[in-house]
Amino acid sequence: MSRVVVFNDFGGPEQQELIDRPAPEPAAGQIAIRVVAAGVNPVDWKIRQGFLGHEWALPAPMGREASGVVTAIGAGVEDFAIDDEVLGEVAPGHGAFAEHTVLRADKTVAKPEEISFADAATIPVAGATAYDVTHQIELEAGQTLLILGAGGGVGRMAAQVGKVHKFTVLGVASKSKKDLVESSGAIFVESGEGVADRVAAAAPDGVDLVVDLVGGDALRAVAPLAKDPSHVLTTADPDTARELGGAVVERTEEALEKITGVIQYGLVDPTVTARYSLDDAQQAIAAVESGHTTGKVVIEP
Ligand SMILES: NC(=O)c1ccc[n+]([C@@H]2O[C@H](COP(=O)([O-])OP(=O)(O)OC[C@H]3O[C@@H](n4cnc5c(N)ncnc54)[C@H](OP(=O)(O)O)[C@@H]3O)[C@@H](O)[C@H]2O)c1
Repeated sequence: MSRVVVFNDFGGPEQQELIDRPAPEPAAGQIAIRVVAAGVNPVDWKIRQGFLGHEWALPAPMGREASGVVTAIGAGVEDFAIDDEVLGEVAPGHGAFAEHTVLRADKTVAKPEEISFADAATIPVAGATAYDVTHQIELEAGQTLLILGAGGGVGRMAAQVGKVHKFTVLGVASKSKKDLVESSGAIFVESGEGVADRVAAAAPDGVDLVVDLVGGDALRAVAPLAKDPSHVLTTADPDTARELGGAVVERTEEALEKITGVIQYGLVDPTVTARYSLDDAQQAIAAVESGHTTGKVVIEP
């Protein structure tokens, strides 16, 4: 038997449960792993709430990104072998907050030795998204990138990618994240009332790209500082971004391998700030659901 966190129906955290079930088997194009670490993302509770539709078969396993050791290989998969150390995106119907799970082979890569399992578990969703938001609209060295939500899982990595490209990065976050934002080489701008004035003071010539990881009124406040309204890119709030003339991140095939390489060479630190056991998975999900975590939260079964 193998333990997994599921939600039993769409709704709040009370729907979550740690259950025992047989270890899952990989279908064609999939690989099974013993999970060593799983990254927690806002999408986990958004799926549970039903914000992404109701097509999930219930009870639905939770968690979308994981690292671990290959235990079984599905038909047609040639790039992986038993005992390989990997990181990847969880296959539909499976969950990463588990002792065993199943990954999509086409969204899995070998885990480089230099990357810990905990860091590796943050790459398939958060890391790859950080790569995509910083490459979809191309900037040149010296241009200004503003990141709204710069101290969170995606934002922390996006800020570091921006510095690798020698962009001038402005990181908007709450005061408690000042040191963290500055440690990535970004200019810290405190969030909240008056944020637009503070951004304008830090970037008097305007902003070349706004990367929004928060949405809503926080996005409305800073979006006008973009020199070109179409250079507002969101992961968090498609409706508001489009209403303001901006766009939504498009996820690419190449991101997973590219960001894994950047992290392998020590240019980006995923910044795991909290680690929970599977028994405490509910606390890990609650921490991310608060909307104010720092860096990445992982679960280690
Ligand atoms: N479409 C995709 O493929 C995709 C992939 C990954 C993530 N996402 C989405 O992208 C968003 C960010 O994901 P994440 O993993 O980075 O989330 P996260 O780790 O929870 O970070 C969110 C950050 O937002 C900050 N924040 C909250 N209110 C703010 C405000 N008013 N001004 C500035 N910052 C504020 C919080 O920091 P403070 O405590 O400092 O406020 C927190 O650090 C989520 O909506 C997620 O669902 C989409």
